Amino acid sequence: MKAGAEPLFQTIARLAAWNSVDTTKLIVDVDTGIDDSLALLFLLANAEAEILGIASTAGNVPAQQVAANNLAWLDLCRSPDIEVAVGSPVPLVIPLRTTEDTHGPQGIGHAVLPRSDRTVSSRSAAQLWVDLARENAGVAVGLVTGPLTNLALAVRAEPELPSLLRRLVIMGGAFNYAGNTTPTTEWNISVDPEAAKVVFDAFGAADRRPIVCALDLTETIAMTPDHVRRLAQRAGSAPEEAIAETDASTVRSQASNPVVRHFSDAVRFYMEFHRDHQQGFIAHMHDPFAAAVALDPGLVQTRPATVDVELAGTLTRGMTVADWAGMWGRRPNAEIACRTDPAAFFEMLIERVGAFAGRLYPGAGVPHKHRRRR
Ligand code: RIB
Ligand code: CA
Repeated sequence: MKAGAEPLFQTIARLAAWNSVDTTKLIVDVDTGIDDSLALLFLLANAEAEILGIASTAGNVPAQQVAANNLAWLDLCRSPDIEVAVGSPVPLVIPLRTTEDTHGPQGIGHAVLPRSDRTVSSRSAAQLWVDLARENAGVAVGLVTGPLTNLALAVRAEPELPSLLRRLVIMGGAFNYAGNTTPTTEWNISVDPEAAKVVFDAFGAADRRPIVCALDLTETIAMTPDHVRRLAQRAGSAPEEAIAETDASTVRSQASNPVVRHFSDAVRFYMEFHRDHQQGFIAHMHDPFAAAVALDPGLVQTRPATVDVELAGTLTRGMTVADWAGMWGRRPNAEIACRTDPAAFFEMLIERVGAFAGRLYPGAGVPHKHRRRR
C-alpha cells in the first residue's frame, strides 16, 4: 500500500480516538515565517490541537503579509475556518524591522502559495488574545513564535491575562548562548525588546511561568534534507524529495503532494540561508519545536529563572538575561527549556505532518511536472 494513504478502518479508528483525546486549545501568535509555517502545519496535523485563533505579528515580514501567509496555509491544509487576526503594524516603541533575507520576500522562502479568499478577523491580534483568554479561562494555551508585541498589548489591556492562560510557551531569547540577530540578542526579542520586558514582567507574579524555548535549545533542532525526504515519503509524495546543497537557486520542488511541495520550497530557502551564514545546509526549526512543547511540555526539561530584558545597553539592547540563582531577589518568572531529544522530535514531526499531508492529498501520487493540466 502506498505510504500515506491509510485503510478506511484505520481512519475510522483514528477519528473515533480523536473524539476521546483531550484537545489542547491554543492561541497561536506567529510572524509567519518559514519555521512558523511548519509550526502551523504541525498543529493542524495534530488531532489533539484545537487552534482557537491565530495572531499575526509583524516580525519576519509585516503583519499583513504574516496574516496572508497564515490564511494561505489554512487554505492549503483545507482547514476549517480559524480566526486570523492582524497585529500591530509596528513594535511598541521602535520602528519595525523585518528580515526578508532570512525568510524570503513573502516570508515563506521560495514557496508561492495561492492568495487566500479567506478574510482576516475584524478584531486586532491583541483583542483576540484578550477575548480568547477570557472565554477559555484556565484552558487556553498560548504559543508565541514571533515578537511579543501583540501579547504585550494584550497584557496591558488585560493584566489578568497571565493567570487566565493554562500555559504559555514562548520561542525567543538566548541565555548562555550567542544571539542570532546581534551578538547577544535573538530575533523575536530584538524586534520588540520593550514588548518582551512587558511580558516577562507580567508573568513575575503569575503562578504558571511561561516555558521559554530559546536559541540555546532550538538551535539543536536542525532540519536536514533527509528529514524533508522522509516527510515527503510519509506523505506518499513522488518523486523522492531531494533537496541538495549543490542545487541551483532556481530549483524548485516537483513533489506531487502540494503540502510537501510548498513546504519543501519554503525550507529550501531557509537551508540556503543557514548555509550562507556558515551554519551548514540545515534549517533550525525553532517554531515547530515550540509548538510541540505547547502540546506536550514533557518534551523538555526546564529550569526556573528570573528573566529580564536589557533595554538600555548600547551593545546588548534586547539581550534576555536570566537570573538562575535569585541574585536580584525577584521571583522566577520563566521556565527555561534546557534539555530535549531532537531526534525524537523529528520522528514525531515527520510522522504527524507527513501523514497529515498524505491524508489531505491522497491521490497526489503522480509527480507534479508529469501531471496533465486539466
Ligand atoms: O530566532 C528565531 C525566531 O525568529 C523564529 O521564530 C523565526 O521564525 C524568527 O521569527
Ligand atoms: Ca517565528
